[in-house]
Amino acid sequence: MLPSLVTLTNPLFKSNCYILYQNGHAIVIDPSSTDELLHLLTQNKLTLDKILLTHEHYDHIAGITALRAAYPHAPVAACAACAQRMVDPYYNHSSSFDVYLYFLNGERPAVPTPPFYPAKPTVIIPPSYKENWQDYVLTFQQTPGHSPAGICILLEHNSLSAQAPLLFSGDSLLPSGKPYLGFNGHSEADYRAVTLPWLRSLPANTQVYSGHGQPFLLGEKLLELFA
Ligand SMILES: [Fe+2]
Repeated sequence: MLPSLVTLTNPLFKSNCYILYQNGHAIVIDPSSTDELLHLLTQNKLTLDKILLTHEHYDHIAGITALRAAYPHAPVAACAACAQRMVDPYYNHSSSFDVYLYFLNGERPAVPTPPFYPAKPTVIIPPSYKENWQDYVLTFQQTPGHSPAGICILLEHNSLSAQAPLLFSGDSLLPSGKPYLGFNGHSEADYRAVTLPWLRSLPANTQVYSGHGQPFLLGEKLLELFA
């Protein structure tokens, strides 16, 4: 049985928060939303098994403090670099976020973004790691480039299912193809050396759920990436 998947897109940041749930258990990926996210979890009486972060940028973690307050026992998992960088407003970009919003929305927000100091994750994800969740296997893969703290999360059924894998790519793979390589810590060399070969090793029918925009098939984008 497929897990339910809900996408919440933050109206200001245009970033996607994903909620996967099955058998009353849920995973939240990139909690950029707050009220809508909490409403969905409570309305569906979901046990929050874990909160996963694809990277440290503010538009992907802005709702994490409220979510942790509501679900204090839910583990928060991120890679080691994300754990280091997310707690610093310079590296999580909250200290300069209004400039980003100006370019994104054409205007600065009515209320300036304050520096964001979230708590550290409770679980560090190893560089290449798998774990089971419900009927699925989750693969966590470091995907540097957009950020040195980038990871992708692959969801595959744990049986010999014909079901296509789902890839939660954060900002490591966007609907436009190439990731944005302009923030501090970015590296096109790392993207080419580490991230691209891994993405190209995945099945072409992998359905990609990116940090921004609509879902797409991995095979439609692979040829465009730094071709
Ligand atoms: Fe980002």
